[in-house]
Amino acid sequence: MCGIVGYTGKSSALSPVLEGLRRLEYRGYDSAGIALTLKPGAPLWVEKRAGKLENLEGSLTPDVPKSHSGIGHTRWATHGGPTDTNAHPHLDNEGKLALIHNGIIENYVELRAALEAKGHTFKSETDTESVVHLLSDARKAHNGDLAAAMRDICQELRGSFTLLAIHSDDPERIVGARRNSPLVVGVGDGENFLASDVAAFIAHTKRALELGQDEVVDITPSSITITDLLGNILPHNEYEISWDASAAERGGYTHFMLKEIYEQPKAILDTLIGRTAGLDASITSALNFEAVSKVVIIACGTAYHAGLVGKYAIEKWAGIPVDVEYASEYRYRDPSVDGSTLVIPISQSGETMDTLMAMRYAKTHGAQVFSVCNTNGSTIPRESDAVLYTHAGPEIAVASTKAFATQLIAMYLVGLHLGLARGVITPEFVTQMGDELSELPAKVEQVLETVEPLRELTRKFKDSSSMLFLGRHVGFPTALEGALKLKELAYMHAEGFPGGELKHGPIALIDQGTPVIAIMPAAGSLLAEKMASNVQEVKARGAVVIAISDGPVPAADHVIRIPSAHEFLQPVLSVVPLQVIAYEMALARGNDVDQPRNLAKSVTVE
Ligand code: F6R
Repeated sequence: MCGIVGYTGKSSALSPVLEGLRRLEYRGYDSAGIALTLKPGAPLWVEKRAGKLENLEGSLTPDVPKSHSGIGHTRWATHGGPTDTNAHPHLDNEGKLALIHNGIIENYVELRAALEAKGHTFKSETDTESVVHLLSDARKAHNGDLAAAMRDICQELRGSFTLLAIHSDDPERIVGARRNSPLVVGVGDGENFLASDVAAFIAHTKRALELGQDEVVDITPSSITITDLLGNILPHNEYEISWDASAAERGGYTHFMLKEIYEQPKAILDTLIGRTAGLDASITSALNFEAVSKVVIIACGTAYHAGLVGKYAIEKWAGIPVDVEYASEYRYRDPSVDGSTLVIPISQSGETMDTLMAMRYAKTHGAQVFSVCNTNGSTIPRESDAVLYTHAGPEIAVASTKAFATQLIAMYLVGLHLGLARGVITPEFVTQMGDELSELPAKVEQVLETVEPLRELTRKFKDSSSMLFLGRHVGFPTALEGALKLKELAYMHAEGFPGGELKHGPIALIDQGTPVIAIMPAAGSLLAEKMASNVQEVKARGAVVIAISDGPVPAADHVIRIPSAHEFLQPVLSVVPLQVIAYEMALARGNDVDQPRNLAKSVTVE
């Protein structure tokens, strides 16, 4: 949800800023803009354009002045449509101060009224523009000290924000601040970076600093100063980024999504390493599992679907009741939560605002918080009592694939650990499941080797108005995930249902030729028979059925075979063809695979 980058150093700033924006474009692609500082006092150079980053790049002429410091922004619009004027950076009335913002300023209406009354003129419809005017006044009050001004205004702002600002009188300096939105510092040699995400500067440095809540950072090419809002200097908490620039590149694939689908065997393997026999000591020592009588999983979208699979596994293996909650709903219904509740937020980005807010609610009500997250040092793990990092590597495509696979693995690991700790399952069962889990990378590889025919099959349904997904048991969350992938990528109506629920209403949707994807339970199981009946029911009403199964499905029109696996682990395999179908459908319908319309990767607003 908006990508932010800042560079100050020895190089020409335009190139690292543009490169950072390219790498952050997955966060928002409604408009993009750049501001560069020139000589002290010289006017800022600013360019911004509605639409994707390529529009901005296309507008750049060779005579962009040389600059060593600048900021860039790629936007996911909240307040004000995606126009050139609403694009960031926003400037103060003197055109000397430029500001970019990720998040929402909730009190912008009052601020704007007060600033207009003082004579400030506004150009855009954004909430952000209030901040630049406010900062401009504060900077004057602080005799040109931009960092002091930033600290002051942060105390007046309500909502969530990452802010970066530059001023033409002090061209080497960039000042940033964050509350509930991500901001990381890249530590270079004679150059420093600020960004929403380390991907922006990974090609230049692997050294990063975490910035905490309500902190202000002031960088020049040779210095980094982090303070709280009162101006107290805070220690640097530096870490090394564990992946390199190639992990955030397409590497020969036509799309990031395709690359990420094919990276799933490795992502699963990396997430499993060293954990099949028990969770990391850092987790077990930080949590009191004996005190837990209820588990609440909070997540959004794809991560929510992983949580639903987790419910089946944890309830079965650990014998604990599990609720899975949409994070955006959780805290608004006064849920019952206390010290005996183990709250598990699941988040790829670690920055999803709905999940963060739900988690904070639970924490303040005494819950133990054990997050499952893919992004090192992001806010959700930072604020958790313990974290199980999924090792999917950077996920750039907006539609989540490999992160989902690793979230499923995390759910199984949690279920097994809790089950063993509570004496519900035996060490022998854990060993057996550990072996089953260890076979998954090779099995996913096998599925990936057989997906080619899906290309042609998918194209047959490219003009369908709707597609339905049926599943039972853990196949039901898988059906929901398949439908979500298709909606977001193909912009096609898609819904997932439990197979047995069809006859209670949704079967009325079936018409001649309606494509139905049936995720079949393990061949030979009782549920497979029930599901076979559901397939017959939709066939009898004209549906074309594509079954995903580890055995034959005589009634289906097409069967996509997957290897057999333990019934709880099957989603890891059956979701792969669903991802490929969504990908192929997006291509067939001419959609942008990696940056589907209206979406953004990291949803840092509520
Ligand atoms: C769908 C998708 C989203 C995310 C959701 C949560 O493909 O990617 O539904 O799963 O926005 O994001 P995280 O996991 O970053 O909290």
